[in-house]
Amino acid sequence: MSTDVHAKHYDSQPRLHHNGSEIQKFGALRSLPIALSHESRAQSAQLLNPILADSAILYALYKKHHWLVRGHTFYQLHLLLDKHAEEQLKLIDMIAERIQTLGAVAVGDPRHAAEMTTVPRAPDGVEEVPAMLSRLLEAHEIIISKVRDAVTTTAETRDDGTNDLLMSDVLRTHEMQVWFIAEHLVPVPVVEP
Ligand SMILES: [Fe+2]
Repeated sequence: MSTDVHAKHYDSQPRLHHNGSEIQKFGALRSLPIALSHESRAQSAQLLNPILADSAILYALYKKHHWLVRGHTFYQLHLLLDKHAEEQLKLIDMIAERIQTLGAVAVGDPRHAAEMTTVPRAPDGVEEVPAMLSRLLEAHEIIISKVRDAVTTTAETRDDGTNDLLMSDVLRTHEMQVWFIAEHLVPVPVVEP
């Protein structure tokens, strides 16, 4: 009699090339016990997914401009734009995980985000630096506008978790980033001419 009781039943070969149908469609809601109505959770997810899609695009724009920025403020802007990208990436994860917490499905594939976003597409080439910065500010305001609407709605539907995330993390981060970018568009010379 063999002493290796597992040998008959297990091997270490990964089972590859699985195929299967979706087990939760995008837009469908699971029921999680968080004492929040189906309607409230569905409404919050419908508000959060466009914000998530726009945020994914804004993150990509920050990285694009981090790479492509030029001129005598290159190094300063190169670092600042990367910092903002990292902060947006944190927000993206928080928003996506909030959507999951609500029982919904977060936008994941960047091509899905691209279909959903209302942030205008940047040219594939290199814009002048003030145009890059203006583009970022306009993207921020599109998102901030959606966030403010979602803050109002989630207060009414008592989705306090989403409301807190949007106010404490998303809105304040965006407003701060707008300030830091906008200061670079003030036409003040470094020294008196
Ligand atoms: Fe970099």
